[in-house]
Amino acid sequence: MKAVTQLGLQDNPLITGLWQVADLERGGKTLDRQSAATQLEAYVNGGFTCFDMADHYGSAELIAATARQNLLQQNHSAYPALKLYTKWCPQPHQHSFADVHRGISERLERLGMDSLDLLQLHWWSFEHPGYIDVMDHLMTLKQQGLIKHIGLTNFDTDHLAVLLSCGHEILTNQVCLSVLDRRGLSDMSDLCRAHDIGLLAYGTLAGGFLSERWLDKPEPDQISDWSKMKYHRFIKTVGGWQSFQELMRTLSGIAVKHGVSVSNVASRWVLQQESVAGVIIGARLTEQEHRNSNREILTLTLDDDDMSLISAQAETLGEIPGDCGSEYRRPPFLTASGDLSDHLDALPPVFKKEAINENQTRWRISSASEFEPICGYSRAVRIGNRILVSGTTATHGTERVIGEQDIRAQTVYILDKIIAAVTSLGGSQEDIVRTRIYLTHHPDWEVVSRVHGRFFGSLRPANTLIEVSHLIGPYAVEIEAEAILE
Ligand SMILES: NC(=O)c1ccc[n+]([C@@H]2O[C@H](COP(=O)([O-])OP(=O)(O)OC[C@H]3O[C@@H](n4cnc5c(N)ncnc54)[C@H](OP(=O)(O)O)[C@@H]3O)[C@@H](O)[C@H]2O)c1
Repeated sequence: MKAVTQLGLQDNPLITGLWQVADLERGGKTLDRQSAATQLEAYVNGGFTCFDMADHYGSAELIAATARQNLLQQNHSAYPALKLYTKWCPQPHQHSFADVHRGISERLERLGMDSLDLLQLHWWSFEHPGYIDVMDHLMTLKQQGLIKHIGLTNFDTDHLAVLLSCGHEILTNQVCLSVLDRRGLSDMSDLCRAHDIGLLAYGTLAGGFLSERWLDKPEPDQISDWSKMKYHRFIKTVGGWQSFQELMRTLSGIAVKHGVSVSNVASRWVLQQESVAGVIIGARLTEQEHRNSNREILTLTLDDDDMSLISAQAETLGEIPGDCGSEYRRPPFLTASGDLSDHLDALPPVFKKEAINENQTRWRISSASEFEPICGYSRAVRIGNRILVSGTTATHGTERVIGEQDIRAQTVYILDKIIAAVTSLGGSQEDIVRTRIYLTHHPDWEVVSRVHGRFFGSLRPANTLIEVSHLIGPYAVEIEAEAILE
């Protein structure tokens, strides 16, 4: 797999995760940079040379930069193997090249590097299509040498497909993947395998719940660290503490058979999934260290019986809803802080609405199409509590066609745009009561309908699917919609 070789994960595919730094620095305190860096150097000395960070992980980037500088000064033999992966999580709106350049320059400055080993993009809301332009700009920065590899984090399969259809070079997608959360193993893994994209799996230990410390123990009522707060929600979502304990007993049986720990088995099960390039294991730098235990993962091999037994037990649990990353975008919000709806509701609307009449009972929005004023129509209009969305195609900006060769990407892009139109007029996805799909090529109906199902499966608006001989422009699908606000 390309990601394994290009990210230096051949000998040790275990990546040390530094989100926990932000938790340790909660409330405004800062870890002592030199002593935290010395602790990171101990990981490097132990053969753990790859670290995962983000723009919002407290001083993690600065600590890693200090450790890197120390190793360079010591002429340390492991210095060439050191890899610092980071993330950029901009607000989901339109970003110019200068904005993206600024975001990446800040990462470079904090890490003290000339070129980022891996820059992973997170995008909060796909209603705003600005992630496509951000990826264009990241590709330019990669060509200029500021980034070695571009990855994503928490992109679902449909939006990964949109970016692939745009020709973006994507090395990895960092997603939650564990025996408790197997969303990344179906459609996501298939698409990644088809495009040689490696999954970087986090949450593999459910914040530490997947360890002997919690075997046959009562459910905690007080949890102090963010990571366990988050994965406690996962445990509740898939069936609760008793079901979790049954899974733990299966893992424990296999751990005893191999003379390793429950955590080792849980991580190894993820690592042995075909599309996984690396497993990220969080480190609470000033607290417990698990390096020696985690080294066991490198020599452990789970046989087919072990893998099937774990998978079978895992499948008795409920599923985490949605696709990879859904927990950040819609209920149930399975994050450390829980409900993110305030954060998402505070995002500015994608389209600006304008009143059509004086008493403001009629509104419209326009998208970038040059034809809207010429032909006299709006992207969408609101009359009282009713919103009507015009036939919408996958036109990005004024003329770029998204997914020209990929009907799935085309449909995803259109549905995001329709939802953005409805929300910009004060409605929500849940208010959509009717969709009408026009497509030009009959065999495409199933791909298009399955995308529609992923967007609207729980809402099930009235729907019509029509085959037409032509659509205006190079499009294979066009969709219109209607919403009624309660
Ligand atoms: N992209 C994203 O949205 C995202 C989200 C979350 C995390 N991440 C990344 O993934 C990393 C991992 O974080 P996570 O929250 O998912 O946590 P995790 O890796 O599932 O759990 C980490 C915890 O597991 C325990 N642990 C580690 N090795 C162990 C062993 N051998 N035996 C027993 N316990 C062990 C430790 O708990 P104790 O400290 O209690 O001992 C450690 O703090 C983060 O640092 C970050 O880099 C990314």
